[in-house]
Amino acid sequence: MIEPKRILRSVAGAGLALGYLLAMSVGAHAQEDADDKLAETLIREGRLEQNIIACSLCHSETGQGDVNFAFGNLTGQSKAYIAKQLYAFKAGERENKVMQRISKSLSERDIAALSAYYSKMKVAGAAFAVNKVPEVGLKLATEGDDAREIPACDGCHGLDADTGELAIANINGQHSTYIINQLVSWQDGGRDPDSVMAQIAPKLTVPEINALAIYYASRTRKAKE
Ligand code: HEC
Ligand code: HEC
Repeated sequence: MIEPKRILRSVAGAGLALGYLLAMSVGAHAQEDADDKLAETLIREGRLEQNIIACSLCHSETGQGDVNFAFGNLTGQSKAYIAKQLYAFKAGERENKVMQRISKSLSERDIAALSAYYSKMKVAGAAFAVNKVPEVGLKLATEGDDAREIPACDGCHGLDADTGELAIANINGQHSTYIINQLVSWQDGGRDPDSVMAQIAPKLTVPEINALAIYYASRTRKAKE
């Protein structure tokens, strides 16, 4: 027979454990809420005394950026990818004067909060509609070019490609100007030389870059985790 006292003790024990778990999860939620608030403030107002200009002034309130100014669409990127880029700007490893200056003052917590916030933002789709993607773009994106050792871009950047853990950029529905800038930047050594893109981009010709920018800009972006 089990003594009633023991039952009571184990019930009390379970209650304590449950209380502990609840407190932990409330704690985690409180932390997430605080981080979201921090990200919102940085996005809307910046932190001007530290040279952090409000992200929304360039990337827009919705995170979609602007096709004319090559700011890039930040929605639908994984947390890991956004954090990697902010650290790369901060370390001066990715070139862009304004982003380098802004990210210098971003703390680890700021970067974690901003990456999480942007990765949860509503995803906004295709930058523009096109009648026809030039053949050369379709071929490189879907098949690559074995002779020049260029893998199919869609192998990593396809609509359903898993980009999260590997910090692969989501480039579907990205602004064409921004895509062109990034490929040229890798040709000129302005972005991570250890990235697979540093092997691929220098092999692309101008007509190919042009065609690939049309191909990816015209596709509808999906969320990536
Ligand atoms: C004055 C304009 C400006 C402001 C303000 C700004 N950005 Fe940027 N951001 C840019 C530009 C331009 C680029 C593209 C740089 C390039 O071509 O490599 C960029 C690129 C990025 C990227 C890389 C996107 C990608 O797909 O790789 C991230 C992430 C980013 N910004 C986050 C932020 C955050 C977070 C803030 C606020 C703390 C911010 N930016 C504020 C102009 C701005
Ligand atoms: C083996 C996987 C792989 C293949 C194949 C690949 N990419 Fe990438 N791509 C990446 C990764 C990873 C990144 C992010 C690099 C970084 O973190 O700096 C990236 C980034 C990019 C970016 C920058 C996106 C941004 O938001 O700044 C563009 C543009 C791009 N790739 C275009 C292409 C094109 C065009 C092709 C085909 C010719 C291609 N990629 C093939 C893995 C790949």
